[in-house]
Amino acid sequence: EKGGYAHFTIKEIYEQPKALKDTMTGRIVPGKKVKLDDIHITKEMLEDYSRIYIIACGTAYNAGLIGKVAIENLARIPVEVDVASEFRYRNPIIDAKTLVIVISQSGETADTLAVSREAQKFGARVIAITNVVGSSIAREADDVFYTWAGPEIGVASTKAYLTMLVAIYSIGIYFAELLGTQQESYLENLKKELLTLPEKVASIIADTTRIEHFADKIHTEKDVFFLGRGLDYQIAVEASLKLKELSYIHSEAYPGGELKHGSIALIEDDITVIASLTQRDLLEKMQSNIKEVVSRGAKVMAITFEDNHDVEHFSDEVIIIPNTMDLIAPILAVVPLQLLAYYVALYKGLDVDKPRNLAKSVTVE
Ligand code: F6R
Repeated sequence: EKGGYAHFTIKEIYEQPKALKDTMTGRIVPGKKVKLDDIHITKEMLEDYSRIYIIACGTAYNAGLIGKVAIENLARIPVEVDVASEFRYRNPIIDAKTLVIVISQSGETADTLAVSREAQKFGARVIAITNVVGSSIAREADDVFYTWAGPEIGVASTKAYLTMLVAIYSIGIYFAELLGTQQESYLENLKKELLTLPEKVASIIADTTRIEHFADKIHTEKDVFFLGRGLDYQIAVEASLKLKELSYIHSEAYPGGELKHGSIALIEDDITVIASLTQRDLLEKMQSNIKEVVSRGAKVMAITFEDNHDVEHFSDEVIIIPNTMDLIAPILAVVPLQLLAYYVALYKGLDVDKPRNLAKSVTVE
């Protein structure tokens, strides 16, 4: 059932082009408005929402972090993101003017389900983004976006995460089209570009030699730092979680600009820093952050676009990804980092599909 792959995790990483395509089919069509069959929100309803909460756990929460940026940019509605187990207990402001988006691969995560129920009790509408048809979260929500990633067996979420991002971008564009918050030509370009991503992801996974080489180099490390600015920071957060759970290496994700507010004290000779540089407006700032860590002895692996040639001058390793629009770059940028976590675990001889202490579906609170 692993179809010739050594592990479900790597099989699922390789299934990402198909998962992306399946999730977009029929929903994102060039020249047409985004069509979301199980979401029944009208322009009038949307105009009435004063805020959106995105609530989830773990990797689904990390997808939500990107959702905040994407939906705020596209639809200009304020979005707050929180982990379900915190949100529940902090007496949040929820009413009929609140739209809640819960994200859950399994659709059974106890804390996320509890938030969905609580929100509805206070009169909020709930959209569920989930991968499992008929799951509790799907059944109880007012609207559903199914990510057609197919069954995810590996405990570490990979293809489900990528399709959650597609869900978020689709909902963001759908809202923007209802509200008229963006130029049609911009949205059209975004849709066309989204449709090219399955092929671009395929080109990233077609050759993993550089990533394997880097994984071999760092697999004995104790600490690794991930850096990014803008959407690259949210990618750093997800990459750090993936590396932790698959390889048991401690890592932290920092926004580039926060370094000098404390954590740069941890940068010493030979420490590994993994930097994502896909946000064009922030490239220069991010590059100067990298220079700061390099001057303190850090070894840097950078992930950047084809057309950014500056990074190679001050990085030990560069992983190149195809060019795309900044807003949707996370879909590409995370893939080499998933592969990195997988290969580091492999070099360490760990149980990749079932990391210690973890369960695929967390149905206890
Ligand atoms: C990490 C991972 C977990 C899940 C989290 C939420 O790779 O898989 O962090 O993302 O337990 O699970 P769902 O999405 O099923 O609610």
